[in-house]
Amino acid sequence: MTTPPFLHPEPLQTPRLVVRPVADYDLADLLVVNGNDEVTRYLPYATWASMEDAQAWLARMQTAQTSGSTLQWVVEETASKTVIAACLLFQYDAGSARAELGYVLGRPWWGQGLMREALVALLDAAFTTLALRRIEAEVDPRNVASGALLRSLGFAAEGILRGRWVTKGRGCDVESFGLLRDDWLLSKKKLLPHYPRPESPI
Ligand SMILES: CC(C)(COP(=O)(O)OP(=O)(O)OC[C@H]1O[C@@H](n2cnc3c(N)ncnc32)[C@H](O)[C@@H]1OP(=O)(O)O)[C@@H](O)C(=O)NCCC(=O)NCCS
Repeated sequence: MTTPPFLHPEPLQTPRLVVRPVADYDLADLLVVNGNDEVTRYLPYATWASMEDAQAWLARMQTAQTSGSTLQWVVEETASKTVIAACLLFQYDAGSARAELGYVLGRPWWGQGLMREALVALLDAAFTTLALRRIEAEVDPRNVASGALLRSLGFAAEGILRGRWVTKGRGCDVESFGLLRDDWLLSKKKLLPHYPRPESPI
């Protein structure tokens, strides 16, 4: 199969969300998401303090997207038109059709299954439209919710990488997760019926 270009698919709609490419008008909402120490606790970057931090992040993302290594999405809540989360595929390796997944959800929206809903749509597009064959994720082992979320999507825990990240100035281990396209085809049968697209008859 010829590998398609690593470009954003059409915006992805789920019952409660739209997953679409990031734009500069999303930065105020993303500052709320990333401007919270509880949210960034296990993430390898500092809590955003200002719109300057947000703009610097967008400039880095735009450079990474232009280089073809990264696709950065935001997750907009359909009812409120608020951007509540961000997700990305990065470290794209065209030869192996592989990329790494990252995600962050604003604190007010935790515990409602919203990130799972967004990732079901994103992973499905990644394995179909983008024709990826493996998606990886690295998680601080103390980040129980993130590990549980990945397992519920069908990711396999593949081992601990010692001292891999420096988070908040301290070295920490990470747990490595992987999802193959075949794993996803199995998970999807269980998950997609719970997250039909709005126009879907299922
Ligand atoms: C990780 C994150 C995306 C989870 O999103 P969420 O929508 O709140 O996730 P959920 O509430 O659906 O929880 C996911 C799972 O973790 C479990 N969980 C949540 N908090 C937990 C906790 N403190 N202890 C144990 N399990 C927990 C839930 O029960 C659920 O498990 P289930 O699928 O078996 O029901 C969100 O917490 C977040 O953005 N955190 C900060 C950023 C981050 O850590 N990103 C990931 C970096 S690897």
